[in-house]
Amino acid sequence: MITVPDVLRFKADARRFAMLTAYDYTTALLADRAEIPVLLVGDSLGMVMLGHPTTVPVTLDDIVHHARAVARGSSNALLVGDMPFLSYQASPEQAMAGAARLLQEGGMHAVKMEGAGPVVELVSRLTTIGVPVMAHLGLTPQSVHAIGGFRVRGRTAEAAERILSDARELEAAGAFSLVLEAVPAEVGRMVTEALRIPTIGIGAGPHCDGQVLVVHDMLGLTVGRTPRFVKRYANLGEQVVEAMRAFAREVGDGSFPAAEHTYRGDAGARETAKYGG
Ligand code: KIV
Repeated sequence: MITVPDVLRFKADARRFAMLTAYDYTTALLADRAEIPVLLVGDSLGMVMLGHPTTVPVTLDDIVHHARAVARGSSNALLVGDMPFLSYQASPEQAMAGAARLLQEGGMHAVKMEGAGPVVELVSRLTTIGVPVMAHLGLTPQSVHAIGGFRVRGRTAEAAERILSDARELEAAGAFSLVLEAVPAEVGRMVTEALRIPTIGIGAGPHCDGQVLVVHDMLGLTVGRTPRFVKRYANLGEQVVEAMRAFAREVGDGSFPAAEHTYRGDAGARETAKYGG
């Protein structure tokens, strides 16, 4: 099983690694089979699973619900649960209560929190008591309304310096890794070279220690436009529509169910209607 020290070792050994989001049992099972070392139950589930326009409406209950399913499906990956917007910023006590739910009810091994400033103190409190924290800088989607949209961050020298100093503070506070989202590749390189903990990029260029994608995006399940940083490794969305059309067609013309999908009265007693195994 992948642990937090393993992830730190990836950087020490210059081993680039992949992280994917997962929100359900089956995806976690498949990601384990693909030997993805880190799975994130991201608040992006609000957009790709629940149909919200942003991650802002996602609640701790939403994350815990999906985290439990992922934890049941995965037996190898390091599991990271996202702390949703306004579930940790109010106080260290609120952050601890939220982290407790993700680790104890959700079966997660670590939590992720967006931003710096007052969040640095929360990272310090959580890591001191043994909760591993993944930090997140650059585009922090929970602040979408303050930023004015899903915009690339760190484009000016001043903004890039700010990201670097925030990253250093989060590392000093005990974060074990840092997601860098939607920043120029140069910023990704600068931060990666400056930190001992691994950076995990999403639209942060090729120099980060790891890369993360939203699983719906990389499988081609996302409906509509995706950001520039997304690479589609499959076109499952189109295959799903085709499969659904074929099913409806075969039901309509009577070719489904065929004999092999139909129980017979003389079948052995061992035949069951069970899934899995
Ligand atoms: O919620 C999420 O999926 C994320 C990743 C994009 C890093 O934060």
